[in-house]
Amino acid sequence: MKVGIGILGGGTVGGALLQYLINEQAAIVAKTGLELEVRRVAVRSLSKTRAFPIPVEIITDRPEQLIDDPSIDLVVELMGGLEPAGDLVMRALQAGKPVVTANKELVAARGAELIQRAEEKGVSLLFEAAVGGGIPIIRPLSESLAGERITRVLGIVNGTTNYILTRMSEDDLGFDEAVEEAQALGYAEADPTADVSGADAAAKTAILASLAFGTWVSVDAVYREGIESIEPIDLRFAATLGYIPKLLAIGVETPTGVSARVHPALVPLDHPLASVRGANNAVFIEGPQVGQLLFMGPGAGGGPTATAVLGDIIDAARELLAHAQVAPRIRFAPGRLRDFGEIETKWYVRLEVADAPGVLALVAGTFGEFGVSIKSVWQEGRGEDATLLLITHDALEANQRAAVAALRSLDVVTEVAATIRVQSDEP
Ligand code: NAP
Ligand code: HSE
Repeated sequence: MKVGIGILGGGTVGGALLQYLINEQAAIVAKTGLELEVRRVAVRSLSKTRAFPIPVEIITDRPEQLIDDPSIDLVVELMGGLEPAGDLVMRALQAGKPVVTANKELVAARGAELIQRAEEKGVSLLFEAAVGGGIPIIRPLSESLAGERITRVLGIVNGTTNYILTRMSEDDLGFDEAVEEAQALGYAEADPTADVSGADAAAKTAILASLAFGTWVSVDAVYREGIESIEPIDLRFAATLGYIPKLLAIGVETPTGVSARVHPALVPLDHPLASVRGANNAVFIEGPQVGQLLFMGPGAGGGPTATAVLGDIIDAARELLAHAQVAPRIRFAPGRLRDFGEIETKWYVRLEVADAPGVLALVAGTFGEFGVSIKSVWQEGRGEDATLLLITHDALEANQRAAVAALRSLDVVTEVAATIRVQSDEP
């Protein structure tokens, strides 16, 4: 049974998908009974040299023609970005064609609207590859765990930043060099700022939190910090203290609302997330009935991501051939979003201070004024000055910030040189 496929985008993921669909066609037929035939691939430049050349009879630079082509039953969007991808996806759904996409930016920004249109048209909008690259995480959340009341999502969801932090921590590589490597390996977004600023992880966190908690979490509601301000000196201090920095995605549901955030955090070396290296991702999902689940694997790169896209294509093709009226996969109810300031966090703070009697007491007293208690302190002397490293106990994020702001106004504090949140020992 033949299904005509149109692919918008023939880059890292689109190219890997096309290569697999062409080279492994017989194996796919043998395993699924489906003949997935790529009938058109839309790109921006027809003359570009590609790792996997696109056959001349199917390549086009007119993506809208692909949507209108009656021989195309199913549209795969692998262009990235909000537009024209958003308009093309909407047009495909409007035309009653199922859509598979890896575009987290688009799903996070317009997912509710696109899912609604897909439902109205009785077709699927599938986006397994939008989060976690090759790791199956969207389907487990929206199907296997659909009945569980999920309370927490915690993980590493950006391969590029994890690759950069791994190379900087383990191999002393500079930030810019590590970014270039991640780009060359096909992990980074077209503009890698989306990775290092935490924007890509925030989009994925919005999607995960929405599916996990059944409340649509807009990407603007996700608190976000990137890895740009992590300095090599803090990587060294962190290692000495028994931590490694990771860009964490955290979603929590509490009786008073849902919160979602992305920021770097020092993870204890014996925490399972500490061993997630390179472009790998890992996500813990927690619920009262199921306990704790861990999903882990390659989070970026053409091959792993194309595998997730192909799984969705097969799912959508099966529905097409069964002429199935696609049932809604998940419903979103209104819910309260909690402000990050209301969440308890733990901080690592690096201070440059005068090495004089009473300084430590003054610093500790300032934290104390805001109800923040100090867990541990290390000092390194440098003549009349000293570097002070503090790790606080859990306290309200708003209080941690207020305490650090107050430290800045102390005469004995030359500089608040770094603040990084610290993840608890338990997963
Ligand atoms: P990419 O290598 O930059 O490929 C994008 C493709 O889309 C290119 O073939 C490009 O054409 C084409 N394109 C872009 N704008 C176009 C336009 N206006 N008209 C026609 N074609 C256009 O990107 P990618 O890494 O494959 O990522 C694609 C999507 O997958 C993104 O949403 C990304 O976030 C997502 N994703 C990527 C990964 C990964 O590891 N790379 C993992 C998970 C999800 P040209 O080739 O002619 O430039
Ligand atoms: N740029 C993304 C990352 C690709 O590095 O995680 C996978 O979504």
